[in-house]
Amino acid sequence: VLLCLCCCSSWLGGLACIFSTSLLFQILVRPCSNGGGLFFCPQSPNAPSILSSKDRTAYHFQPPKNWINDPCGPMYYNGIYHEFYQYNPDGSFNPNTSYNIVWGHSVSTDLVNWITLEPAIEPDTPNDIKGCWSGSATIVSGDQPVIIYTGVIDIEKHQVQNIALPKNRSDPYLREWTKAGNNPVIQSGVPGLNSGQFRDPTTGWIGPDGLWRIAVGAQLNGYGAALLYKSEDFLNWTRVDHPLYSSNASIMFECLDFFAVLPGSNNGLDMSSAIPNGAKHVLKMGMNFGEDVYVIGVYDLKRDAFVPDTDDSRLWPRIDYGNFYASKTFFDSKHGRRIIWAWTTETDSSSDDIAKGWAGIYSFPRTIWLDNDGKRLLQWPVEEIESLRRNEINHQELELKKGDLFEIKGIDTLQADIEIDFELTSIDDADPFNPSWLFDTEKHCQEADASVHGGIGPFGLVILASDNMEEHTVVHFRVYKSQKNYMILMCSDLRRSSLTPGLDTPAYGGFFEFDLEKERKISLRTLIDRSAVESFGGGGRVCIMARVYPVSLVDDDHQPHVYAFNNGSATVRVPHLRAWSMRRAQVSA
Ligand code: FRU
Repeated sequence: VLLCLCCCSSWLGGLACIFSTSLLFQILVRPCSNGGGLFFCPQSPNAPSILSSKDRTAYHFQPPKNWINDPCGPMYYNGIYHEFYQYNPDGSFNPNTSYNIVWGHSVSTDLVNWITLEPAIEPDTPNDIKGCWSGSATIVSGDQPVIIYTGVIDIEKHQVQNIALPKNRSDPYLREWTKAGNNPVIQSGVPGLNSGQFRDPTTGWIGPDGLWRIAVGAQLNGYGAALLYKSEDFLNWTRVDHPLYSSNASIMFECLDFFAVLPGSNNGLDMSSAIPNGAKHVLKMGMNFGEDVYVIGVYDLKRDAFVPDTDDSRLWPRIDYGNFYASKTFFDSKHGRRIIWAWTTETDSSSDDIAKGWAGIYSFPRTIWLDNDGKRLLQWPVEEIESLRRNEINHQELELKKGDLFEIKGIDTLQADIEIDFELTSIDDADPFNPSWLFDTEKHCQEADASVHGGIGPFGLVILASDNMEEHTVVHFRVYKSQKNYMILMCSDLRRSSLTPGLDTPAYGGFFEFDLEKERKISLRTLIDRSAVESFGGGGRVCIMARVYPVSLVDDDHQPHVYAFNNGSATVRVPHLRAWSMRRAQVSA
């Protein structure tokens, strides 16, 4: 550490030093899960306190206090966005063993500012007495919202599916919910089904026969499965004898999501009406109790089965390559778009969470659609976020030579939105791509970190940096030439984000294919929100959500630094750089 402190005054010399000594800080193994299916939680129980009120995010969603996990049943109904969430009413700890998780409820008119209401669904019947777990909302017949959720019925965590309906549809906030008389509407009782791994029903969709369908995540004969159920009235359900999809890629699929996308269009599709010809379908699966993976494919209506474009699960992309799980989408009929968001855990210690009084945030709501090539989903923060922007600063035509560092000044660097384009002056210097990197991008981000010069890249942003660079987070790109095209690596390297030992600080990473012959610019957008760093690379082809807790933030007067940098041999131009300070949203009252 001492060695590092003395050489970090010069940043570029420092980078090599910073990253070579960072092994000292390599700590946690990720992801941690209990294998029983509840809560992936990369936390260290023994990390020393790093409490800072500055860690509390200012515009990422969280309720006023306590623990949250999965987003549940998001919907737009009669002018109001509803967000429900797995919520611990008893405190800011993982309620895994207290069996008392409820559906918290918040409402909004703009997806930015939220009003918190009383919990909507609580464990108070034999069908959910040990917890009201995740589920979805569907608007049936255009005006009847219906929630379908998992009830835990005993301490062995056996699971069934239940329905709840608004008590009074003319209450604009739909504050009170009544449980259906015929709950549970779906029980396990399927040969080969593990009834302790049977949960998280999807939003309903209508088939060509006019019947409703939902999928429920399960472990069937030891493997992950999306069990398919059909109904005429959304209340009485029968199982289709084959799953919508199953795979040995994971022993269980949690938090499934199933939706249609239209090639060449960024409009969302409403799953409760007929899906146009030519649409593709996307199945999102929570795999290995901590990774949100998706696969694009077609919905074979004759067989009522999902057929992925590839069965090689090693090639299935992640919705987000960072701290992002249990994501859920919904169709926003106000703007005709599909929106996604997800749970982001704390990565400090559980004792710090108890002291803070809160744990868990959501990624900022993102529009999600299919890229023109049909191979990848794109995501971008909903445009309503722009209402929080102020103090725009603007730079044009910057040139970043190897080793250059350009400080971005004039914004609140703790709460910011930064958009930057990197234009490559030449693409001849790209280093060759090795396809085996695809299978362990985090390892590659560690090995080829920001201190390692490449032909093109690394270039990107250094954010939340302390005066002497002892603490900083790097979001960067590296360009490789593959046989057919160019492959771009995007990393969000947290290994030096905090001096506090014991935090979960990986170097997250993901690759995307890019036609550099056609388009020479690679864009990066990073939302900085105190302990949240959410980045969108290549127009949203790779997204990385992360949590960081720099010690230097504890000091009230300290404004961290933000830099654009290039550490590759080829010069990189920055035709545009725009950045804003972000106002605090009303998210917690
Ligand atoms: C995912 C999950 C879900 C479950 C919920 C319980 O994080 O384990 O599968 O329904 O959390 O809170």
